Amino acid sequence: MSKCDTYYLTTPIYYVNDVPHIGHAYTTIIADTIARYARLKGIDTFFLTGTDEHGQKIEEAAKKRGKTPKEYADEISAKFKALWDEFEICYDKFIRTTDPEHIKGVQKAFLTMYENGDIYKDYYEGHYCVGCESFVAPSQLVNDELCPDCGRPTRIIKEESYFFRLSKYQDKILEWLKTKKPILPEAKANEIIRFVEDGLKDLSITRTSFEWGIKLPKEINDPKHVVYVWLDALFNYLTALGYGSEDETLLKKYWPAKLHIVGKDILKFHAVYWPAFLMSIGFELPKVIAAHGWWTRDGEKMSKSKGNVINPKEVADAYGIENFRYFMLREVPFGADGDFSEKALIDRINNDLGNDLGNLLNRIIGMAYKYFDGKITSKNVEKYYPNELNEARDIVKDLEKTYLWKMQIHKFLEELWKVLSIGNKAIDTYKPWELMKNSEEEKAAALLGLIANLLALVAVNLHAVMPKTTGKIAKALGFEINKDTFAAIMDGKLLNDFVIEKIPPLFPKIEKPLMKKVEVKENKPVNLITIDEFFKTELKIGKILVAEEIKKSKKLLRLEVDLGEEKPRQIIAGIKEYYKPEELIDTYVCVVSNLKPAKLMGMMSEGMLLGAKDENGFSLIRPEKPKKTGTPIK
Ligand code: MSP
Repeated sequence: MSKCDTYYLTTPIYYVNDVPHIGHAYTTIIADTIARYARLKGIDTFFLTGTDEHGQKIEEAAKKRGKTPKEYADEISAKFKALWDEFEICYDKFIRTTDPEHIKGVQKAFLTMYENGDIYKDYYEGHYCVGCESFVAPSQLVNDELCPDCGRPTRIIKEESYFFRLSKYQDKILEWLKTKKPILPEAKANEIIRFVEDGLKDLSITRTSFEWGIKLPKEINDPKHVVYVWLDALFNYLTALGYGSEDETLLKKYWPAKLHIVGKDILKFHAVYWPAFLMSIGFELPKVIAAHGWWTRDGEKMSKSKGNVINPKEVADAYGIENFRYFMLREVPFGADGDFSEKALIDRINNDLGNDLGNLLNRIIGMAYKYFDGKITSKNVEKYYPNELNEARDIVKDLEKTYLWKMQIHKFLEELWKVLSIGNKAIDTYKPWELMKNSEEEKAAALLGLIANLLALVAVNLHAVMPKTTGKIAKALGFEINKDTFAAIMDGKLLNDFVIEKIPPLFPKIEKPLMKKVEVKENKPVNLITIDEFFKTELKIGKILVAEEIKKSKKLLRLEVDLGEEKPRQIIAGIKEYYKPEELIDTYVCVVSNLKPAKLMGMMSEGMLLGAKDENGFSLIRPEKPKKTGTPIK
């Protein structure tokens, strides 16, 4: 079999810093649908998914939970695998970046790039977003410090680093983007093209300030460096096929990938860095990189702190895995952001699945038994209903070319539903009960034959989205969905005569929401003040010169604090339980300097120290480094 007949597709590999959520399920379900469709067409398909396990983010997440990164990665990676198994995701390989074969492959790639002169050693100084595991150029920062992609504060890192000559590939990448048009939806390509046209800087590809990553190849002999997690992760698409191992049969058979499915947030890594790495090691580039949008919940961004993250298993348990698959694929145009609401999901189940599809099946089951002992024949369908049949065949003819391979699965489904409309409309127009009354039995039987064939057409096309459900529909219609029946039905072959199998309704009506209600926690502070109001409070750096106990008081100390004024101020502070006077002398504090003086235990207090108290006790707030006394705090 030549390479043109194979189809290699991938999902991103998921970070193991946290458990799977709806976004991960979405990407994986799209990929599973495409893979199933390709297999149904008899295409030799390889579907890869897995977990991305190295990097600072994972190291920190593990540490927070008192685990080693590997222990933590094992635990979360197993959760992803278990979820995909439960969702019957039919992948061919689940890769983990901690797999020894992957590590070997990444080291081989690194060495090849190094030997090709594409890697040099220098020094990185700049901003880094740990959440996105991404270096952020100063010009991209929001408010001088926030990551433009996730909005979280970046960290400044200064460390020795190896760099990849990304700049060298700028023109070639641009040409590839413009001539091959690998990005879907095409509208997303412009953003990436602009990013490349703005100029590509060489990319830092190693880190030294933490350890959880792949070591450089031993030939380079620089043990304090680990490979940048994105370089490590992207190469999974090659190492999964055996790149770097003894056996490269799969690599030869399946590379280049026909499709990388990614979220819009990681398109740049796949459409700019990845092709440059591939060019550097002399590999062909992937054919399509398709970027989907993001899911929100009830119009709100999902976040752990709000407690509104959707657990895909919870949705599937409540509404059924396949209904959930249909909803996600039908509800949102590929590439656009989508909103998950239970109401929208219930509407899709009750309307599209229940009314349009389920009812049509129920109607012919009912009529077949009422009028023909359950028997259906295709005998006179062409004779009585050629228009309906041809209209339906026209709809499905180019569906896959126009929509499916272009990732427009929502459109694919929308169009397919038109076939169901033809069926429902035919019943209303020709009224089989009247045909029976008027002794036009042959025409009535042919009408049921038409409906059965329309349902078969829908079932084979919908199979990749709802494998089990369509399997049940096919069984009721007396056939099995496989690559031969798919090809025959798509080719215009009608069903053989059969006796319909009665099956219970596939989509019982859902009357009310079935999931636990989420209380969205509002993180917004309630007593908002303006900046002017804030600046009414004058805060200054002070230095404690004198600290003494006030004998009669359990709580108070008398302090003399230098605020850079003519003479020190006397401040009576309630910190006796937490500090000994001698610990305080000569230390720096933050002082509210424009409080009206007040008398405490008969003594004037001319200011207040800032402090914070939680269940572990009290702490004064101090400047990180000594500052001149009287320096305003802003
Ligand atoms: N580990 C990297 C990918 C490396 S691929 C060589 C990564 N992992 S991730 O777990 O953070 O994200 C994986 C995918 O989930 C991304 O495609 C991302 O877009 C997707 N989603 C994460 N949250 C999402 C939503 N709320 N909605 C839809 N998809 C989102 O990035």
